[in-house]
Amino acid sequence: MTGGGRLAGRVALITGAASGIGKATARRFLAEGARVAAADANGDGLAAEFGGCDGAIAVTGDVSQPADSARMAAATAEAFGSIDILVNCAGIARYTEFLELPLAEWQVVQDVNSTGTFLMAQAVARHMVTSHPEGRTRAIVNIASVEAHVVLASEGHPQVHYNASKGAVHMITRALAVELAPHGIRANSICPGVTETPLASYALSVCRFFDQITLPLAAFRHNRSPMVPSV
Ligand SMILES: NC(=O)c1ccc[n+]([C@@H]2O[C@H](COP(=O)([O-])OP(=O)(O)OC[C@H]3O[C@@H](n4cnc5c(N)ncnc54)[C@H](O)[C@@H]3O)[C@@H](O)[C@H]2O)c1
Repeated sequence: MTGGGRLAGRVALITGAASGIGKATARRFLAEGARVAAADANGDGLAAEFGGCDGAIAVTGDVSQPADSARMAAATAEAFGSIDILVNCAGIARYTEFLELPLAEWQVVQDVNSTGTFLMAQAVARHMVTSHPEGRTRAIVNIASVEAHVVLASEGHPQVHYNASKGAVHMITRALAVELAPHGIRANSICPGVTETPLASYALSVCRFFDQITLPLAAFRHNRSPMVPSV
């Protein structure tokens, strides 16, 4: 669907689009009239969701790999002429207690969540600054987490690596907002609370205290049904 809507005529590249929040975002952008490059490491998931979808292309790749991030940005620009919006949503979570946490697990979480955000932002921003259709504003939206700001200390939820990666996303975003402002590119992050998706399913199955932790924080509330209908 590429008719009217708040994003009519806009081009968006959305990572993590095969599942959860990224999938919901891509669907919503399409419903609002954007043309969407749905990006994810899960090519089968992309094909199932966006194969043959009017206004969408699927671009498969790993956001933590420089060659893949550059290729996904180039494929989007080639298909649609330019890129107006990047939504960096691809992410992973792992759960290992700090004293047992292996370096490899620490590293993969940083690679996907923070390095992936950096690589995709850089690859897309390079296209944005060289191809800028008249009158079109451009934006980078990074999906951080409430856990960029608070530790959801709960039994079964040890996440120093996830916290660190999302704190990095938060500060990457602030730095980009400053560095890219002269190019007319806005950068903002969104910090969802706990949202029922495959990523959160393990935590939701083992953590007993999320509701007590999140309910007093209205902005960080546990997202149950509101997300699901639009996923
Ligand atoms: N679900 C929550 O409670 C919650 C809360 C706050 C923030 N977030 C963040 O929201 C984002 C989306 O999470 P979700 O809950 O929708 O998870 P999800 O598991 O449903 O979707 C994540 C998607 O990212 C893709 N992905 C993972 N690694 C990738 C890589 N290296 N390259 C390309 N794609 C990759 C996966 O294939 C998957 O399709 C993540 O950044 C997550 O940290 C989630």
